[in-house]
Amino acid sequence: MNKLKFRNGDEVDAIGLGTWKSEKGKVGEAVKIALNSGYRHIDCASTYGNEAEVGEAFSEIFSERKVKREDVHITSKLWNNAHKKEDVIPALKQSLKDLQLDYLDLYLIHWPVAFKPSVAAPKSDDDYLSLQEAPIIETWNMMLEAKKQGLVKHVGVSNFSIKKLKILMGETEEVPEMNQVELHPYLQQNELLKFCKENRINVTAFSPLGSGDRPDGMKADNEPSLLENEVITKIAKKHNASAGQILIKWSEYRGTGVIPKSTNEGRIKENLESANIKLDENDLKEIADLDRHFRYVTGEFFVTEGNSYENIYDD
Ligand code: A2P
Repeated sequence: MNKLKFRNGDEVDAIGLGTWKSEKGKVGEAVKIALNSGYRHIDCASTYGNEAEVGEAFSEIFSERKVKREDVHITSKLWNNAHKKEDVIPALKQSLKDLQLDYLDLYLIHWPVAFKPSVAAPKSDDDYLSLQEAPIIETWNMMLEAKKQGLVKHVGVSNFSIKKLKILMGETEEVPEMNQVELHPYLQQNELLKFCKENRINVTAFSPLGSGDRPDGMKADNEPSLLENEVITKIAKKHNASAGQILIKWSEYRGTGVIPKSTNEGRIKENLESANIKLDENDLKEIADLDRHFRYVTGEFFVTEGNSYENIYDD
């Protein structure tokens, strides 16, 4: 399998297990199945509401010593209500406690958006902190402090546009090591990928399969299906693979990380096995042609009228 390299030489397997939307009562088993079948990269976040169960699974697997903690790359993310500098390390420590870990491999600022500390999900403009009240550089400096303290090995961001990366990079000497963004054939983000490559920022693809299990309130009417796309299903048939595997392999080909979510044993295993597929030039060309700048995760949930975050992606 392809590996992503950090600037200090550390590596992470391109394919990891996503846990966004993984239900309580299922996520722990999914993590155990993943680790026992060869995954060495697990993506978590405090806002997914399931880190305590994931932590139970880690504790069980690592205590058995079949899989070593140090062989697994574990990511978590700072939620938007902990951007104030005094809140960053306590939020990180809560994730470490829930996940039953001494350190994270990667900690990301989940969104370039700050809520007031008491707000989990904003309902009105009053629930946000403005860019002046919570300057992203202050949040970032605390991420760097967490790294200095050995609580995390690597730090990065998520959902950052080129514009937002440039602003941050203009204020810091320590460039993010990762940008985790939505990426799939309908949203190929070639410019962002190029920019990140030039600046040695690794990229991880979320919603690689189109996140069909998002809550209904997050879905657009008649949104296009990636898993049922004709080109993808045709290529899948040709390689005797599933559509999901083609989508995952395509991400790997582009040099990004990819974190398909599944709580189904067969699909968890199948997704890792996509590493064994070989796509040809023609497949890659046909998939490249599917780009249509379509987002499943619109970020509309952050827009209240006139707040600082209206154009979250700077599209
Ligand atoms: P399940 O958890 O039942 O396997 P994304 O990673 O883009 O957020 O997509 C996750 C969704 O895709 C979930 O509904 C998940 O369901 C489903 N899924 C995961 N792997 C596959 C696969 N190989 N084929 C089809 N659907 C999949």
